[in-house]
Amino acid sequence: MSSDPRYVVAVDQGTTSTRSIVFDLQGRMVSLASRQHRHHHPQPGWSEHDPAEIWRHVQHVVPQALDDIGADASQVVALGIANQRESCLVWERRTGRPLTPVITWEDTRAGDVVQQVLDAGHGDLVVERTGAPVSTYFAGSRLRWLLDHVRGLAERAERGEVCFGTMETWLVWNLTGGADGGRHVTDVTNASRTNLLDVRGLDWDPRMLEVFGVPHAMLPHVEPTTGDFGTCTSVLPGVPVAAAMGDQQAALFGQTCFAPGQSKATFGTGAFLLVNAGSEVPPSGHGLVPTVAYVLPGEAPVYALEGSVAAAGSLVQWCRDALRLVPTAPRIETLARTAPDNGGCYVVPAFSGLYAPRWDAHARGVIVGLTAYVDRGHLARGVLEATAWQTAEVVEAVASALGHGLDALRVDGGMTTNHLLMQTVADVLDVPVERPLFAETVSVGAAYAAGLGVGAWGDLDALSRLWRRAARWEPAMPDAVRRRERAQWSRAVERAQHWVEL
Ligand code: G3P
Repeated sequence: MSSDPRYVVAVDQGTTSTRSIVFDLQGRMVSLASRQHRHHHPQPGWSEHDPAEIWRHVQHVVPQALDDIGADASQVVALGIANQRESCLVWERRTGRPLTPVITWEDTRAGDVVQQVLDAGHGDLVVERTGAPVSTYFAGSRLRWLLDHVRGLAERAERGEVCFGTMETWLVWNLTGGADGGRHVTDVTNASRTNLLDVRGLDWDPRMLEVFGVPHAMLPHVEPTTGDFGTCTSVLPGVPVAAAMGDQQAALFGQTCFAPGQSKATFGTGAFLLVNAGSEVPPSGHGLVPTVAYVLPGEAPVYALEGSVAAAGSLVQWCRDALRLVPTAPRIETLARTAPDNGGCYVVPAFSGLYAPRWDAHARGVIVGLTAYVDRGHLARGVLEATAWQTAEVVEAVASALGHGLDALRVDGGMTTNHLLMQTVADVLDVPVERPLFAETVSVGAAYAAGLGVGAWGDLDALSRLWRRAARWEPAMPDAVRRRERAQWSRAVERAQHWVEL
């Protein structure tokens, strides 16, 4: 083996930014480059990205992260991709030209499609076959909306002239040659977030394609999480794309939650709690979604039970950008610390409705409990508590589903640098919260999976030994306060529910 340094590169294509992180073969992060893309909201409830802009950012951040350490593609053994899930687009097979924007997971425009599927009596069938409830959150309803609204798209889709993809599909296609032979593939974890995958058979479900009216000819081939996603012809020429996975599954992998019962919560744009459920599909119920955690070639699939919260970091961004409450997102903690408590004010950020465990597409955001006493500091407290209480609702659902509570919760994501939030999460959950040394766990997971795929790391045990704890928050809230605040939070959520008239 050459004495040159060897690296694994991860691309984390997230809702707000695209990051490239370089890891050495000891699993240490050695370089990071990142770029934010624009977020378009052309109508209330619509949420779009420009796929060309995201691809340009990948072309920029990957070489930059390597340049910064004086490395190049010849020293990279594998590339792994993790991505915002459910966000999707359609492009032309012959040219690679996008025919639609990226319609993101936060977009609610396909509400009518969801209603039609439910009105046709398919709700239970969709849950049974795919694990997930019919919702605008999952890609299938938004794809149906595109087929109905983009002129000529449905006919072209039938003829196989167009490609549907979630973000890893778009990136792999472009990295491996685009219109000149790029691979049209998805990984099974992303596919499990479309309402179109048979969650047991791990391939597109013909019955679901019928229900949503999706032509098979436009769908990518479903691959295991690690394996052969092709070889880069640009950006990292000659480097194998050895893994792709949804970012939340990547975080579970990066937190090395390989044993049933281990769990993590990632606090990004939204908040996503996943519990490793082992190799059988866990039962649906309690507002949680069985989902594919990872599939290693030749091994039994591993499933997770997921509780997704739509708005967490996005609420802080909204406070920054729309309300100008704080100049930067981290300053929300400084502002919140100016108040001893929420002053009676509760914020329910149901911008895209409510996801787990309530699944109310018709909910919209509310701020309640306002009096003239409430100031900016109280409001900032209410904003942070919103993330904590939404997480608590998911943890309660997990406890009901598993029949026991969590011993501890591993956390990661941008918001975990907010100590007040992490303390609040530990307080309202009444569970210790632990953050690992490498808080970029989405990238860690993508890199681990890719490195595993090419044999850079031996096995899952070797990866587990790389996990290091950096911080731990112990619950410190008196029970009586927790009970009172829990009740107040529920009352606030009830006011947000069923807001949109049918
Ligand atoms: O399901 C949506 C999720 O994958 C988005 O994650 O980190 O980009 O907000 P993030």
